[in-house]
Amino acid sequence: INLKVSSTGGNASSPLMYGLMFEDINHSGDGGIYAELINNRAFQGSREFPSTLEPWVPVGNAVFTLQNTSIPLSSALPTSINVAPGPLSSNAKIGLLNPGWWGIDVKPQIYTGSFWALCSYKGNFTVKLQSNLTDDVFASTDIASACQPSKWVEHTFQLEPDLAAPTINNTFVIEFDSGNGAVNFNLISLFPPTYNNRPNGNRPELMEALKALNPSFLRMPGGNNIEGDIFHYPWRWNETIGPLTQRPGRPGTWGYGNTDGLGLVEYLNWCTDLDVEPLLAVWAGMYLGNDPGHILSPEALAPWVDDTLNELEFILGPVSTPYGALRASLGYPEPWALKYVEIGNEDDLYTNGSSTYAAYRFSMFYDAITAAYPDLTIISSTGDYTAVGGNGQTATWTDFHIYSRPDTLVSMFDNFDHVSREYKTLIGEYAIVQENIEGQLEGVNWDLPKFPQPVWIGAVSEAIWSIGAERNSDAVVGMSYAPGFQNLNSYNWSPDLVSFTANVSQTVLSTSWHVINLFSNNRYTSTVPVTSDTSIGPAYWVAGISGEGKYTFKTAIYNTTSTVPFNITFEGVAKGTSGLLTVLSAPGGLSGNMLDGEGVPTDIVSKREEELVAGSAGEFGFELEQWEVA
Ligand code: AHR
Repeated sequence: INLKVSSTGGNASSPLMYGLMFEDINHSGDGGIYAELINNRAFQGSREFPSTLEPWVPVGNAVFTLQNTSIPLSSALPTSINVAPGPLSSNAKIGLLNPGWWGIDVKPQIYTGSFWALCSYKGNFTVKLQSNLTDDVFASTDIASACQPSKWVEHTFQLEPDLAAPTINNTFVIEFDSGNGAVNFNLISLFPPTYNNRPNGNRPELMEALKALNPSFLRMPGGNNIEGDIFHYPWRWNETIGPLTQRPGRPGTWGYGNTDGLGLVEYLNWCTDLDVEPLLAVWAGMYLGNDPGHILSPEALAPWVDDTLNELEFILGPVSTPYGALRASLGYPEPWALKYVEIGNEDDLYTNGSSTYAAYRFSMFYDAITAAYPDLTIISSTGDYTAVGGNGQTATWTDFHIYSRPDTLVSMFDNFDHVSREYKTLIGEYAIVQENIEGQLEGVNWDLPKFPQPVWIGAVSEAIWSIGAERNSDAVVGMSYAPGFQNLNSYNWSPDLVSFTANVSQTVLSTSWHVINLFSNNRYTSTVPVTSDTSIGPAYWVAGISGEGKYTFKTAIYNTTSTVPFNITFEGVAKGTSGLLTVLSAPGGLSGNMLDGEGVPTDIVSKREEELVAGSAGEFGFELEQWEVA
């Protein structure tokens, strides 16, 4: 393949080209990136998930009862655990034990904890991190009770193990003397060190996995998890802010309750910490499902539009406004730099949903938001530019999602070549989820299983899809793989970008992660035209420039049995100029990364780097093979 790359004549590249999508799916938030180690810390039942004692275990002859005491910790967290001595009590210790979210990774580091108690007890509480398999106690400390019988009192502590525990099968325990009667506990919390040492923050190794992708935006908090299901309970920003005692939690969309400890402020801090643009999705009046009433009428939707304006005032408003003042009262006098708001999520999912979206739901939000915040970019969620604002304006951006098969996605390489340049597309979710069907370009069959993890042929086809997006960066503003995380102990959706367990060394970076890592860390400011003596396929390519002589060329090879030789000249590049060739490859198209039989993350993707030197005509020569990305 002989290619000539020009130095001018392309399109400015979007600074947002590679980003992240996050929602609490697959226990990716609670039990996942949100670093809280205690599972069911505040007995937060909600609708389909009633309050439960799971997974707490009595210590000694303790007897547990869930109680709504006459004095609640807060109206948001009314239910507590009553720990009482059982009938055979002597003066031995009793208490409660929590196994964490499928284990607790104990390391020689500082764990910061707290619990609230209501009691008359005047002795010490002993808190411990201990093995669930042996008698080993890794850290223990005593806290003098500050309890009062008529008032909830917070107790705080730190635990610092000297050694790492050999396994993650560890527990957190609170014990006290049984002779003094019962104690009610609530909001029992324990955090390891977090990314950037944020209180109530995120797991460092998972944040590092995201940071390594050099992302530019974070689309959150959903996905389907903003929408709510038949219980008609969407994600509500104002129930996710403030002290944890004030957050009731909600029935998440993905089969488990959300504590909302990872709330709006935490998402915005996450953006600050990764230096990415927040892209905030707001609920647009459609619950998942087709039950009567799953789409709100204009009258019913109006208060939700007002509520979105309150949310935006909380994020963007000066402290002189009520919600700006609320933000300042939580320790954030400065507004966050929000520029992008998406109205809903996949509001074309149901036929009548799409039509009501275009008829009034989108425009109600669009008109209200643009009137108050004319500089915000409003994104429609239907991927088809049909949503029109009440003043005749159309959404300037739309969010296009695609879950696909490798051959099908490669066949869509030119998908954006011919779209209007008047509107911009955000590819807010994409992934290869099922394998090819011989000779057919089928879409996903949602009744059939999906890949358990991303596979290499999928990652290569995603690379080709990304190259197609980069070539059309005047129409495609950015893309984010979805879902971002998979908790291997409990998940609803695969494949996912990064898989993990409670053990921080069991973080699996998928084949798709490797492609994004390569492409996102090799950006350029403008595409440049390429002339070729060969048509596109089996090699797919894009070229860009970031300043004089600073070229980037990306390619991926799909569907060939022969070696593909490249000979590329770059305008203005002379003999002897050096370049770096980086090639990703993997054995077998249907292989992916996962934990091996020993529980160690596999990595089938190999990275080859080679310095190339331009020949006498300024040409760079190299060869690539089937399913290589370079
Ligand atoms: O990424 C998983 C789900 O796929 C998202 O929640 C939803 O937007 C899409 O249908």
